[in-house]
Amino acid sequence: MYLFGRIYLRGAGVSGCFGVAALLFAATAARAQDTSFGQRIFMEKADCQFCHGPEGDGRGDPRSPGAAANLHKTILNKAQIVETVSCGRPGTEMPHFDKYAYDDDTPCYGMTEKQVGADKPPVPHSTSLTKREIEAVADFVLATFVGK
Ligand code: HEC
Repeated sequence: MYLFGRIYLRGAGVSGCFGVAALLFAATAARAQDTSFGQRIFMEKADCQFCHGPEGDGRGDPRSPGAAANLHKTILNKAQIVETVSCGRPGTEMPHFDKYAYDDDTPCYGMTEKQVGADKPPVPHSTSLTKREIEAVADFVLATFVGK
């Protein structure tokens, strides 16, 4: 009886391990997928790399306007990165990627178009992004550059 019990337990241990490994694999695969979507946005679709550089260190194309931030050094959290990408940075060359930014019903930093005035950040030279794309590019920036 005792022997059977042990065999049974060892069997459970092994399948438990497989279960955890399978879960970890699934989680890693999902994360890798999310980041590659965000990566395509950073490198191609939104062309963040033109200003921030392909390494995200702020060394973009010499013809890019403004002194783009070194994203390795940012202290912003995800919500703040999403806000910065959506709304841009008033008074700087960091564009707003949400095309509805500063509209009356989607103010940015508490400001509407009228209130931000001439400091309204530029429209992107590439294209505006959806909320989902902005989340994905923020995830990519956090996973790839921030604190690295
Ligand atoms: C036209 C050039 C340009 C493009 C394109 C651009 N940025 Fe920026 N970005 C800037 C500049 C310039 C700043 C610094 C603004 C300042 O001085 O506060 C900045 C700041 C930021 C910051 C704030 C960093 C911090 O710590 O304050 C984040 C995050 C950021 N950019 C992410 C992005 C992402 C993601 C994209 C693409 C979706 C992008 N930027 C596209 C020029 C650009």
